[in-house]
Amino acid sequence: QSSLLHRYKGVLFPAVSSEELLDSLDSFDAREDDIFLVSYPKSGTHWVAEVIENIPDAGVTLTYPIEWGDISKLEELKTVPKRRVIPTHLSYEMTPVTVKQKKCKIVYIVRDPKDTAVSLFHYYRDNPNLPSPDTWAAFLELFLKGDVVYGSWFDHVLSWDKYKNDKNVLFLFYEEMKQDFVKSIKKMTSFLGIHVNDSEMSRIARNTSFSEMKSNAVKENCDPNHTICALTSDRNLVFRKGVVGDWINYFTPKQKRVFDELFTEKMKHSDVGRCLKEYVNTD
Ligand code: A3P
Repeated sequence: QSSLLHRYKGVLFPAVSSEELLDSLDSFDAREDDIFLVSYPKSGTHWVAEVIENIPDAGVTLTYPIEWGDISKLEELKTVPKRRVIPTHLSYEMTPVTVKQKKCKIVYIVRDPKDTAVSLFHYYRDNPNLPSPDTWAAFLELFLKGDVVYGSWFDHVLSWDKYKNDKNVLFLFYEEMKQDFVKSIKKMTSFLGIHVNDSEMSRIARNTSFSEMKSNAVKENCDPNHTICALTSDRNLVFRKGVVGDWINYFTPKQKRVFDELFTEKMKHSDVGRCLKEYVNTD
């Protein structure tokens, strides 16, 4: 096991999320109007964050992840004067208790786990903050066991799935955003109570396209204050392919079968499992 990651309550975390910080999360003082942007890594977090930042007069400030940096970073979040949009990859259990008590709005982003696994495999390879996997097959085994950063995809999604129908929780699907961007973003803005007119919406769609975001990342110097995922502030590592169904280029038929069996077993009582199946043509 690499020194880049450490285990906290059975789950792997990056070194930047120290044990001390993770122990202190419950001291975080949520505000009623906070918006949490929650996801398992590689589900489209940067994309949704960019959409929110592109909404004119949204009156929000996108912060760094709550699990990023040392304890002083947690304190610094108190000084944000505007309505905060706080990204995080924490599971429901680890999310600060005040977020639950104050019923802060939660946007949970979810993506087909086979594409998520492929995306995370590349992130492991390219990101100096993560240990380089030997092969795709070896990585996939770790992914299925939940022996990757932020733990098992299944545990993460299922931990939030229980709250899917709560009034303060909205699930956004990566695949739906790809299929019908305007429809899914309108769902989000009406959930957040922010009005966006049609011409603003077209501008947002243009500014947040994969190609636009990728070319902007190349031009930008990496700004540590623009960290959305605790695993890196280097946006050049984020925009790889941006498509649905890239898993087909990596999974062998046997790997697909094993994965699908586990998916069916773990997700059998989950609405999210059913929705994902509808978005993704699995056969
Ligand atoms: P791929 O590695 O499959 O390309 P996160 O932001 O949660 O780290 O997720 C990263 C994934 O979202 C990457 O997937 C990335 O390419 C994809 N992504 C980022 N911006 C996107 C956009 N504007 N449109 C579509 N996909 C995007």
